Formats: sequence, structure tokens, C-alpha cells
Amino acid sequence: MRILRWIGWGLGALVVLVLGAHVVASVKWARHANARIAVPPIAFGNVRASAKHGEYLVRVAAACTECHGDDLAGGVVVEDFVPGHIYGPNITQAALKDWTDAEIAATIHHGVDRTGRPLLIMPSLNFQFLCLQDVADMVAFLRHLPPVNKANRVTRVGRIIKVLWALGQVSDVFPAETVDHVRTFTARVPEGPTVAYGRYLYTSHCAGCHREDGRGGKVTSGPPDWPPAANLTQDGAGGWKQAEFIRAFRTGVNASGSAIRPPMGDAIRRTGKLIKEHDLKALWSYLHTLKGKDVGF
Ligand code: HEC
Ligand code: HEC
Repeated sequence: MRILRWIGWGLGALVVLVLGAHVVASVKWARHANARIAVPPIAFGNVRASAKHGEYLVRVAAACTECHGDDLAGGVVVEDFVPGHIYGPNITQAALKDWTDAEIAATIHHGVDRTGRPLLIMPSLNFQFLCLQDVADMVAFLRHLPPVNKANRVTRVGRIIKVLWALGQVSDVFPAETVDHVRTFTARVPEGPTVAYGRYLYTSHCAGCHREDGRGGKVTSGPPDWPPAANLTQDGAGGWKQAEFIRAFRTGVNASGSAIRPPMGDAIRRTGKLIKEHDLKALWSYLHTLKGKDVGF
């Protein structure tokens, strides 16, 4: 029965190892989650905010509603075994009435709350590239929202994700750790179906997943079961016809006739039909300029 004893020792060692990994990961996680990051204060200067444009950004282009709920009083980001239970908090006036405009703007631009705590998965890796006007517009819209009194649900991040994160297999779960807090706001680009506006939209909404060069790859901030972000250069969607690109956002089906998978497919299903035509034309025009594979000599 020596073999059984060896198996017993083996299993025991495995349990100790797994528990140890979990404890180490939890300690490291708590240290990052409770850190404070100092960010420079935001001054709006003479920006005149438009709550109407802010509504489009919050509901469609930046899709804050995806995580904060349709009424913005709290939403489910994910409820699953591996990632755990993650909720977007209430951001109506019921919750934010004591926050200043600059503090709300800082959550968007820097990914930290009003105490400087790095916010879990707030997409500030993209939003850091928004211009001050767009951020001010969103804050103005949030101020216009009716207050909805709804208590926040408690986020519990899954143990497996914490261990994977501690091992470096998942990154950017605290985007504020990667955001460049010294960078100033991107200069405002006039709205329209232009390459310049497309570059602005791409950088401030898409590059966090599809990468700066548009070539896509593993989404570092996403759960392990997400497909890699698609290549959007001329080798991918940037090489499609403009009409095919627009149709993909209206229907959720790509140029080769396949359904686009989550998280992109879900986002398209919720907001694809509402995206302004000139935003899509601008995005396509920009992606169409991106070279695909390096041409070596
Ligand atoms: C991918 C999901 C996601 C999206 C999209 C998102 N958020 Fe968040 N946001 C979160 C999560 C999760 C938290 C809470 C994180 C934490 O407490 O660590 C949060 C926190 C916040 C907070 C701080 C609230 C508080 O009580 O501390 C504000 C304000 C906020 N988000 C505004 C926005 C705005 C405005 C947008 C759109 C421009 C947006 N969020 C888009 C996930 C998201
Ligand atoms: C949260 C991460 C994320 C963000 C943000 C995001 N995407 Fe995606 N996108 C993906 C993933 C992942 C896929 C791959 C889906 C699949 O394989 O079915 C994808 C697929 C696509 C496709 C389909 C390509 C093909 O060949 O089928 C297009 C087009 C696209 N994205 C454009 C965009 C644009 C434009 C933006 C910004 C407005 C954007 N995406 C923002 C993650 C993202």
C-alpha cells in the first residue's frame, strides 16, 4: 500500500500549493486594490459642455451603460465562476451628488475614484485619450440624469482570476496602473467622416483591445475565454469595403458572414445600430490607412 501513501502525500502537497498560491494572490490583490494613485486635478477652463452629446457618448460610443446599467444605477459586468461577480456601481446623482465634476472626470480620464483608488476594469486605457470636451459632455449628461436610489452590489472577484493575475496571465485589471497620469487631454478633433476623427475614435474607444497598431491579439484585461481581438488593419476589417464595415456594426455579422463573438458581438448587439453613420465612416477611413503585416526587405 506504499503507492497509496505516496498518492496521499502528492495530493496533500497539491492542496498546500493551491492554497498557498491563493493566499499569496489574495494578499497581492488587496495591496493593489487598496492602493492610492495621485492624479493631477482636472480644470475645465472655458469648455461649454453639451449634455446631449454626453448622452450619445455615455449610452453608445463609450457605452458606460454596458457595465453601469441602462438606468446607470448599477449593472452586472459579469457573474461567472472564473471571473467572479463584478458589478458596475450606481453613477446617477443619487450616488454621485457629493462628487465634483472634476472628480467624476478623473474616474473617466484616470480610472481612479475620488480617493485615488484604482478602479477595477474601468476602461480608462481607452478613455485616457478622450478630449476634455467629450469628458465634460459626459459629466454634464450624468448631472442631468434623474437620481435613482439603488444600493451597489458587492463585487467579488473570482479566486482563479486572482491567481492568474498574480501569475501575470491577466493584466490591466486595474487600468489606472497603466494609464499615463501626466499626459494631458487629446486635442479636440472636429466630428465628421474623416481619417483624423476616425483615429481619435479608434484611440479613445478601440485601441485598448485591438492595440495601437490595429493588429489585435489577446485582450490582456479580459477573461481567458475571450477570443483574441481581431486584426483591423488592411489585412482585416480595414480591408473590407466601407459598406461591409458599416453592416458589421448594424448586424453583428462580419464580411465573411460569421457572427462576431463576445465581447465585441455583445457590444454590437446592444449599441451597433445606434452608432452614428459618420463615426463608422470615420473609423473605417482610419483603419483603411493601417498597414497590415510588416513588409520586410
Ligand atoms: C467594462 C465595464 C465598465 C465600463 C464600460 C465603464 N465602467 Fe465605470 N466602473 C466599472 C466598475 C467595475 C467600477 C467599480 C470599480 C471599483 O469599485 O473598483 C466603475 C466605477 C466607476 C465610477 C466610480 C463610482 C464609485 O462609486 O466609486 C464612475 C464615476 C464611473 N465608473 C463612470 C463611468 C463612466 C462615465 C463610463 C463611461 C464613459 C464608465 N464608467 C464605463 C466598470 C465600467
Ligand atoms: C473589450 C475589447 C474590445 C473593444 C473595446 C473593441 N473590440 Fe472589436 N473585437 C474584440 C474582439 C475580442 C473581437 C473578436 C471577435 C471574434 O473573434 O468573433 C473583435 C472583433 C471586431 C470586429 C470584427 C472583425 C472580424 O474580422 O470579424 C470589428 C470590425 C471590430 N472588432 C471593430 C472594433 C471597433 C471599431 C472598436 C471601437 C469602436 C472595437 N472593435 C472595440 C474586442 C474589442
